[in-house]
Amino acid sequence: MAYEVKGVVARSKGAPVTVETIVVPDPGPGEAVIDVQACGVCATDLHYREGNINDEYPFLLGHEAAGVVATVGAGVTNVAVGDFVILNWRAVCGQCRACLKGELQYCFDTHNAAQKMTLTDGTELSPALGIGAFAEKTLVHSGQCTKVDPEAPATAAGLLGCGVMAGVGAAINTGGVRRGESVAVFGCGGVGDAAIAGARLAGATTIIAVDIDDRKLEWARKFGATHTVNSRETDAVEAIKSHTNGFGVDVAIDAVGHPAVFEQAFYARDLAGRVVLVGVPAPDMQITLPLIEVFGRGGAIKSSWYGDCLPSRDFPMLTGLYRQGRFPLEDFVSEAIGLDDVEEAFDNLRRGEVLRSVVVLDK
Ligand SMILES: NC(=O)c1ccc[n+]([C@@H]2O[C@H](COP(=O)([O-])OP(=O)(O)OC[C@H]3O[C@@H](n4cnc5c(N)ncnc54)[C@H](O)[C@@H]3O)[C@@H](O)[C@H]2O)c1
Ligand SMILES: [Zn+2]
Ligand SMILES: [Zn+2]
Repeated sequence: MAYEVKGVVARSKGAPVTVETIVVPDPGPGEAVIDVQACGVCATDLHYREGNINDEYPFLLGHEAAGVVATVGAGVTNVAVGDFVILNWRAVCGQCRACLKGELQYCFDTHNAAQKMTLTDGTELSPALGIGAFAEKTLVHSGQCTKVDPEAPATAAGLLGCGVMAGVGAAINTGGVRRGESVAVFGCGGVGDAAIAGARLAGATTIIAVDIDDRKLEWARKFGATHTVNSRETDAVEAIKSHTNGFGVDVAIDAVGHPAVFEQAFYARDLAGRVVLVGVPAPDMQITLPLIEVFGRGGAIKSSWYGDCLPSRDFPMLTGLYRQGRFPLEDFVSEAIGLDDVEEAFDNLRRGEVLRSVVVLDK
């Protein structure tokens, strides 16, 4: 029997989101229905609403969530009804070229539920990142569920499902930050601050936060920034060099996804340094760099999908560190809101007033 629940839908490019009744089918083979407990508002949801990801409207937004397994379909063995899970948007297939090489974090054929959730008139919904968790219930592939310690509160744990994992992973997995290294993070939103916290966790000794908003820079210090640069007022590349004996950083992370910022990251690193792009650019953005500089500076330019994470490895590790007081997951939660408040949360995100608004579902 299908469920009818409330969900937040983006119907067309740029239009304000609406709360609608959605139909969630019973889970088919390999699928699970989740009672969503909390779902963070990520900048990527806004990208979907703005048409920056694709034009497969209507979207069921929300993808940064934790909840409890309500029902499972045939053949599901990795989770059971009642398990507390964080949802992930890269359920690896185990069989593609990347998986067969043992590089599961790059899986080229990640799984989502085969069935569609719909509006009550039968219109199929495109769930954001294959999740769609601004909803009381959602349907996912069972591989998208990672069981974690139920003592981690859903509001905080859910953030590992996207932005916090993407940021931490950009630093420790993609960037490979090591003890004693220097790191610059451009853009200190939820993702950037998570990269800062990740760099601290990895033992970086110089962590330079760059943003155009002083309030964001102040918050970045809480997560571990040792220096801050307001790049609206100061030349970020020069400032970063001055904090690193004139050399630049070992790892420069662009958590904005804008050509001008990427260029700053490119020039702000030391010889043989790594540049990591974790911010999502719009499809029409271009960048031009002197090829001799790409060659001459050595090192690596990498993009970071989901922080190159493996949910099965990284979610329990980070919830464990959180419970030991070694990772400040709760500090990312700025406010708890309802399903009706997502549009306002987008405004707050754009105005830089929050790190994460988290939709909390009443149970
Ligand atoms: N790669 C991934 O897997 C992944 C996952 C989640 C989010 N993202 C992307 O990461 C980016 C950041 O997400 P977020 O949730 O932290 O967003 P956010 O809006 O909370 O943060 C963005 C920050 O960048 C700052 N900023 C804007 N323009 C800037 C500039 N020119 N120079 C320096 N700072 C600038 C803003 O002041 C803000 O603090 C988005 O593009 C989002 O889509 C990527
Ligand atoms: Zn694969
Ligand atoms: Zn996200």
